Amino acid sequence: MQLRLLVCIKDTISFFSLKKSSRYTVNLSLEALHCAAKEAMAKAIAPYSHFHVGAALKSKSGIIYSGHNIEVSSYSLTICAERVALFKALSEGEREFESIVITASSGEFCPPCGACRQVLMDFAPSLIVYLADKNGQFKSYSIAELLPESFSQKNLDHLSLHDCAKTSRQARQRKSTRRKN
Ligand code: THU
Repeated sequence: MQLRLLVCIKDTISFFSLKKSSRYTVNLSLEALHCAAKEAMAKAIAPYSHFHVGAALKSKSGIIYSGHNIEVSSYSLTICAERVALFKALSEGEREFESIVITASSGEFCPPCGACRQVLMDFAPSLIVYLADKNGQFKSYSIAELLPESFSQKNLDHLSLHDCAKTSRQARQRKSTRRKN
């Protein structure tokens, strides 16, 4: 029988196999997120696309929030798994996030849609996005990699509501002056 040493350091668990002197490391936190994403995917409501997606988001406080896609007969009202997970977390008062795992019934890596990228970037700008396939393989990206040159609150900062009102007032004035001339 092979003797194995088990070492737990924070979020990782390592098996040291003495016989083969090899080492296997599993990231517990990532595995827990992956399980939560798969569990959520099983509950997906997708009667139109039959494409089931599950997501599990880990907050800085260490809590996992999961979500699945929810489709609506008026298709554009559908909401993706990622946003369901994020909105659940936000509504519980969470404001800081570490990582999200996304998995889909196709078994292939399922990258988040553009709308989800924007929403994730707004609320979790340092998020690590893991895509999981059917073989338990992961691809990882930072949200900034997935949405370069993103639009954000900072782009709105220089323009106050007062400025907006002033700008449209000036435009209206210019228009009426042109009409008079
Ligand atoms: N979907 C997600 O839930 N997340 C994604 O990142 C991509 C797409 C859902 C929306 C819709 O219910 C189905 O997948 C097909 O687009």
